[in-house]
Amino acid sequence: MRLPLLTRPLHHPEVAATMNPRLRHIKPFFAMEIMELAQELEAAGHSVMHLELGEPDFPCPACVQEAATRAIREGRAPYTHSLGIPALREEICRRYGERYGVQLQPDQVLVTSGTSAGLLLALSVLVAPGQEVLLSDPHYACYPNFVHEVGGVPRCLPVAARVNFQFDIDALRAHLRRDTAALLINSPANPTGCVTPPELLAQLAKLPVPLIADEIYHGLVYEGPCRSILEFTEEAFVLNGFSKLFAMPGWRLGFLIAPPRSMRDLRTLQQNLFISAGSVAQQAALAALRHAGEDVARMVRTYDERRRYLLAALPDLGFSIAGEPRGAFYVFARIDAFSQDSLAFARELLVEAGVAVAPGIDFGSCGEGHLRFSYANSLENLREAMRRLKTYLARRQPTSPGVAS
Ligand SMILES: Cc1ncc(COP(=O)(O)O)c(C=O)c1O
Repeated sequence: MRLPLLTRPLHHPEVAATMNPRLRHIKPFFAMEIMELAQELEAAGHSVMHLELGEPDFPCPACVQEAATRAIREGRAPYTHSLGIPALREEICRRYGERYGVQLQPDQVLVTSGTSAGLLLALSVLVAPGQEVLLSDPHYACYPNFVHEVGGVPRCLPVAARVNFQFDIDALRAHLRRDTAALLINSPANPTGCVTPPELLAQLAKLPVPLIADEIYHGLVYEGPCRSILEFTEEAFVLNGFSKLFAMPGWRLGFLIAPPRSMRDLRTLQQNLFISAGSVAQQAALAALRHAGEDVARMVRTYDERRRYLLAALPDLGFSIAGEPRGAFYVFARIDAFSQDSLAFARELLVEAGVAVAPGIDFGSCGEGHLRFSYANSLENLREAMRRLKTYLARRQPTSPGVAS
């Protein structure tokens, strides 16, 4: 079915009209805008296959639903300790002990309203105005925006597909300055699905700069090891959460593990900015850690099946896989055969083929020339998406933009 051409720009001009000049640096999240456009198309009666967002398609585990229902029935929804309920912090320590052999104390754990809030808090204690934060390019779309929001300057270092989008340690050293505020790393990574090898983690841990390690995709690894940065240094700030592994994105629950000397500042910030994470969500998360092991194992097996399917199907359509996606639920693929402009191409595929994907430009300038395919969708839907792409790409004129811009 041919969908109507849409002419609305994806960039909202009103962003530039706000009063806070810092917001001029903060870019729209195009994958979200693609999703919003997709929703408009769906509201107009069109069918869209959603491969644009990193949102698990599974229901959250039954034990989570039960724990939350129990907490609601008890009728109380108090503020909790600003660091989070003690049982949950203890369970997080136990998990890191079991999985990674690291000894943590519950008062090093701060339960947050999503990993996103943990990142805001970590950057807030580490970054003074004007200081640089080093990031890879490509990176999770929101990272530079968080850095700008705390008054810092994101410094993006290109990382190449041929080395699985990993940092070159010498290039990193060359970019370190006396006042570099932090190095932000992410493994398994969004948008590439690549996993940082232990040898590189060990080298990163020795750099003379505070490390923030976003481990939100830990557990979603299908090949090879995935080690925590805490196995290599006690000094890192580690972000993690329940949105991905436990299929709980809307519960808005995450945590930050930090060196003891930073906890006073983090706690003060949490008390002021958020008071505490939600009490019902914390009970739900506690149940997830204690009882959701089998649900998680089943989800991981299913993601892996979908990953293998996409790794075979995308090259058949003319996309070339960038790096070795061994974790998270993304495949990052080059689009040279079709377009140089990932945003225009993503919009074209949505409007013309009814398939929503994330444009590579969302993830930094080195992400241009790629699309990110999320396999947080059923195998049946992935198959339908590939069928639609095949049909559309076969009839597409190579030079035709295919959609009004
Ligand atoms: C790398 C990365 N970090 C953090 C987040 C945000 O996670 P949360 O839902 O826990 O705020 C995401 C969400 O997609 C992500 O991909």
